[in-house]
Amino acid sequence: MTEPVIQADGICKHYGRGETRVEVLRDLSFELCAGESLAIMGPSGCGKSTLLNLLNGLMQPDRGSLEVFGLPYQRLGDNGWARWRRHRIATLFQDGNLIPTLSVSRNIAFRAGLAGLKVEPLELLQTLGIGDVAQRYPDQLSGGQRQRAALACAFAMQPELILADEPTGSLDEASARLVMPLFFKAMHERGLTALIVTHNPVLAQCCDRVLHLSKGALSP
Ligand SMILES: Nc1ncnc2c1ncn2[C@@H]1O[C@H](COP(=O)(O)OP(=O)(O)OP(=O)(O)O)[C@@H](O)[C@H]1O
Ligand SMILES: [Mg+2]
Repeated sequence: MTEPVIQADGICKHYGRGETRVEVLRDLSFELCAGESLAIMGPSGCGKSTLLNLLNGLMQPDRGSLEVFGLPYQRLGDNGWARWRRHRIATLFQDGNLIPTLSVSRNIAFRAGLAGLKVEPLELLQTLGIGDVAQRYPDQLSGGQRQRAALACAFAMQPELILADEPTGSLDEASARLVMPLFFKAMHERGLTALIVTHNPVLAQCCDRVLHLSKGALSP
């Protein structure tokens, strides 16, 4: 049995206060083991992005126990989480997270550099089918190209855990079919663990396991 990369038990998270208070996560528990890929599905607004932000340390749960790489979240502190976001945990945000003033190539080199690594950006982009946009800036890309460039940045930092928020959300069906196998191939080659939020049932089925987020909790 491999060590759990994520272990969450009874997580609760709310936004707002008084009349505007919304309980988003109510009693959320799950485990994700090293090398495993888990898809999380659920309707818009059910708390998927909130969950990802708890797992990369950008937010803290109100209650419950959360361990990432075997460490309780409180023990890591802001600097520790920031270090892990540079080296160990790559998040593919829903709106992409490229630096607008750098070309795609330089975005990739920058992300690798933050993790103390050097990569060949063009090679990485070619494996994702977008070698032709290496010198363009993020605002010169289509939504699908931007998502693939963001994926290249995530791979460039050679993380152990990838948290992906709708990684195929801006891709048409043909591009999604092209990118999904590349994603899983790269994942297996690198021994990555992945948690993927998606509305795409084909992508979900490619994962080892699927859980549904509803009423603040996860179930099969
Ligand atoms: N900063 C915030 N303040 C108040 N409410 C928020 C905030 N961020 C999110 N919410 C609310 O919390 C709920 C969960 O939001 P979240 O972004 O996690 O949903 P989601 O499942 O990722 O949705 P989508 O599929 O549309 O991306 C939603 O009802 C949302 O309106
Ligand atoms: Mg979301």
